[in-house]
Amino acid sequence: MVEKQAVGEKATEFVKDDMIVGLGTGSTVYYTILKLGERVKNGLRIQGVPTSKETEKLARQIGIPLVTLEDVNKLDLAIDGADEVDNQFALIKGGGGALLREKMIAKASEQFIVVADSTKLVQTLGAFPLPVEVVRFGWEMTAKHMRDLGCVPRLRLLEDHTPFITDNGNYIIDCHFQEIKRPHELEVALNMIPGVVENGLFNHMTSRVITIRNQQVHMITP
Ligand code: A5P
Repeated sequence: MVEKQAVGEKATEFVKDDMIVGLGTGSTVYYTILKLGERVKNGLRIQGVPTSKETEKLARQIGIPLVTLEDVNKLDLAIDGADEVDNQFALIKGGGGALLREKMIAKASEQFIVVADSTKLVQTLGAFPLPVEVVRFGWEMTAKHMRDLGCVPRLRLLEDHTPFITDNGNYIIDCHFQEIKRPHELEVALNMIPGVVENGLFNHMTSRVITIRNQQVHMITP
């Protein structure tokens, strides 16, 4: 079994009847969602809150009942992938461009479980370019302010060289920092820039990381 599948499926053990569950986005949590679909077919009663249109489509195809964030007061649990996880449980997310909804849903959840294969664990965040969602208006100026924080900002483009558009109708700027020494300070500083909607640093949100080492699934808690 591939690492992503092993960690993704393990997370479903935390899902119980009557829970409202945040469904993340990406190729690791994909396996979580498939497994949950199987369990729903076998009688598990849950409601899912999808973090992207892509996840919503998948969940619908496999029969997971869905609600939206507006329909609920809180979620019991959210499960999602990450692009990097440091040893303080801080994350970079947004490689798939879904970071805004992912962060809103993680924040609304009592528990936030991160599923991460062995390649995602790092000492210091920043080798993976930090995704930042920005409004389209004046994005070049927004990117200039980001550069002042010490990164090389690049507008995310599709293969046809047109800008990637998020589910919320915004752009993503990928910020090449190389090393992020103070993720919490940077998270706040980025969100202070007018034009920034949200950034992919997730600090003090993780309840548990499910990962894998030497083919053994491990769970780590802060
Ligand atoms: C989606 O926007 C991201 O935050 C993903 O959760 C993250 O990129 C991890 O994706 P993979 O599981 O595909 O590596």
